Amino acid sequence: MYQKKRILLVVTGGIAAYKTPELVRRLRERSFDVRCILTKAAREFVTPLALSAVSNDKVYENLFDLDDESEMGHIQLSRSADLILVAPATADIMAKAANGLANDLASTTLLATDTPVMMAPAMNVRMWDHPATQQNVKTLIDRGVTMVGPLEGDMACGEYGMGRMTDVSELVEAVCAHFKPTGPLVGKKALVTSGPTHEPIDPVRYIANRSSGKQGHAIAAELAKLGAEVTLVTGPTRQPDPKGVRVVAIESARDMLAACEAALPCDIAVFAAAVADWRVDMEADQKLKKDGSGKIPDLQLTENPDILATISQHKSQRPGLVIGFAAETEHVIDHATQKRARKQCDWILANDVSPTTGTFGGDDNTIHLITPDHYEDWPKSSKIEVAQRLAAKIADHLKED
Ligand code: CTP
Repeated sequence: MYQKKRILLVVTGGIAAYKTPELVRRLRERSFDVRCILTKAAREFVTPLALSAVSNDKVYENLFDLDDESEMGHIQLSRSADLILVAPATADIMAKAANGLANDLASTTLLATDTPVMMAPAMNVRMWDHPATQQNVKTLIDRGVTMVGPLEGDMACGEYGMGRMTDVSELVEAVCAHFKPTGPLVGKKALVTSGPTHEPIDPVRYIANRSSGKQGHAIAAELAKLGAEVTLVTGPTRQPDPKGVRVVAIESARDMLAACEAALPCDIAVFAAAVADWRVDMEADQKLKKDGSGKIPDLQLTENPDILATISQHKSQRPGLVIGFAAETEHVIDHATQKRARKQCDWILANDVSPTTGTFGGDDNTIHLITPDHYEDWPKSSKIEVAQRLAAKIADHLKED
């Protein structure tokens, strides 16, 4: 289901650390989940208990805490966040981050992450003005760190100048602005299906297929990157939830159809799931048992609903652009062209899924795009590149409308 955005707040040892419980409270009011790391120096200005109470979570302090490492190590801590906010950011933590030092939990987390980082510097004006700090700030900005502040004003040490931490309310606004979607698909709603479906035989057995969900998940991720509000309806897969996407996990084709209908209306719908064509007619309530006679159960199959066709032909809420896939093992283009017409979708992405191609479950895909008025062969590429190309094509198409 929809996940709140997660902020990992790294509190380092400046006087402004006393403002961080208020910062946490205000971020949570704006629907962010906040988890805190506290350095040893920061503990002099704010207590773990205060941060734990306002974040409603444990506060992480030690790199070699066996409990933390088994529950949530520093790698996991940084990966579980959508944004790392260092506030206040001392000259010391910026120097460590700029130079790749990792000798405590805060600096190790910053080195071990590819999550976006925002820093709110706070220090004495002379420390801020020092060429070493200015060089570190430049290095960090060049690497993609967002700096918020510092501000000019009276300092706790009695001096005046640049070095005050940005006000809590402005920091909260900077965090909100970071998550505001941008891109050509802002304002568009998208629905994507992915993965296999599992069709139950009895409480312990099911019929399934080898779909990995890689292609559908990649498409959902790329549409979200272009600013779309994406719902991903997925069967059981090992793929991680794409960032910024609302994920609805289902098992059977009938569940998938219900979840897709619940996601309407939308502007874009991409059906990448490998939906099972058939299900067992009468799912057994209890586990089917061998009765010793050697008799084999007679499983009657019945056809599943065609989700793509149903949504394409929806009377009142047909999405503006409906895109299907055609998994074929022979006469790929002919079969896909007929499939597009039969299901009445707008575009179809045909792919050869013969065992020799390695497409099903693999990392690459070779696509032939068929629209009502044209045809394109795409070069063999990774499923992520296919998703990027498709998302860009969708954005171009909607721009022309
Ligand atoms: N699809 C669907 N619901 C189904 C079957 C397929 O939504 N019950 C969608 C798939 O997600 C895909 C497209 O229809 O976008 C084509 O799927 P494919 O497996 O290639 O074709 P089928 O319709 O299953 O036809 P066939 O097995 O005869 O090739």
